[in-house]
Amino acid sequence: MTRRVAITGCPVAHSRSPVIHRHWLALHGIDGTYDRVEVKPEDAPAFYRDIAAHGLSGCNVTVPNKEAAAAACDELDDAARVMGAVNTISLDADGRVLGSNTDGLGFLGNLDQEVPGWDGEVRHAVVLGAGGAARAVIWALLSRGVKKVSVVNRTKSKAEDLCARFGADSIACDWDDLGEILGETDLLVNTTSLGMAGQPALDLSLSRLPETAIVNDIVYVPLETPLLADARARGLRAVDGLGMLLHQAVPGFERWFGVRPRVTDELRAALLADLGAAS
Ligand code: ATR
Repeated sequence: MTRRVAITGCPVAHSRSPVIHRHWLALHGIDGTYDRVEVKPEDAPAFYRDIAAHGLSGCNVTVPNKEAAAAACDELDDAARVMGAVNTISLDADGRVLGSNTDGLGFLGNLDQEVPGWDGEVRHAVVLGAGGAARAVIWALLSRGVKKVSVVNRTKSKAEDLCARFGADSIACDWDDLGEILGETDLLVNTTSLGMAGQPALDLSLSRLPETAIVNDIVYVPLETPLLADARARGLRAVDGLGMLLHQAVPGFERWFGVRPRVTDELRAALLADLGAAS
């Protein structure tokens, strides 16, 4: 029987998830579909309680439904529980609704692929931003054993709230102290929208970063943000954000369709072509 999966949320027209999953479905010759289904926030609780009634064997969840989806699940994985948000839903053999959050795994999968062994050398990571993406990145870094995560945000109180959830290994710091902090940073991650097309660039000097540092921007439009261009010009290792988007899709596809897919240059090219067509 054809397995039907979809990206759900409101709106869903902009989502790039169909490009990723359809690429893998075709590559592996799997009898499955991956579509877009708009789910209005007021319909979300009932929808996620019973996705099978909508003909789905699983789904991804995007804004603004991630929290409502988490509340509707019978069971959450560790990441979804900590984040209070679900982006991937599957059903077990008894029809129970299982919710996970794969954004953090996507972040880790990207770094693992682009800088193999990074976790052996990163003791102190600095995360810029304190939104949903920052939450996933902090969870990921701590779950991988990074000893200290400094969180720097324009609105410091949000960074403090976030760190309170994660315990003593994450510390909220002042934006004004960033210059000094960068001197002892092994990995710098930008999770703010600064540097994204249509947004101001991130105004930050990387001159204090050690030459062994890694810089990761989770923004992927444009692929080469001013932050990454600056890092590369300084000879630092720079990792773009497209890989996080691609890798976060891997666990869902494996769960729904039984094949662990790979993130290849071909897939990256397909997505970049699609983003080009969309812009
Ligand atoms: P996401 O879910 O993708 O993380 P978000 O929750 O809207 O998105 O978070 C956006 C992040 O970018 C926030 O940390 C925000 O800082 P504030 O908490 O102070 O709003 C940060 N951000 C957005 N525009 C910014 C700007 N002009 N300067 C500094 N930080 C900015």
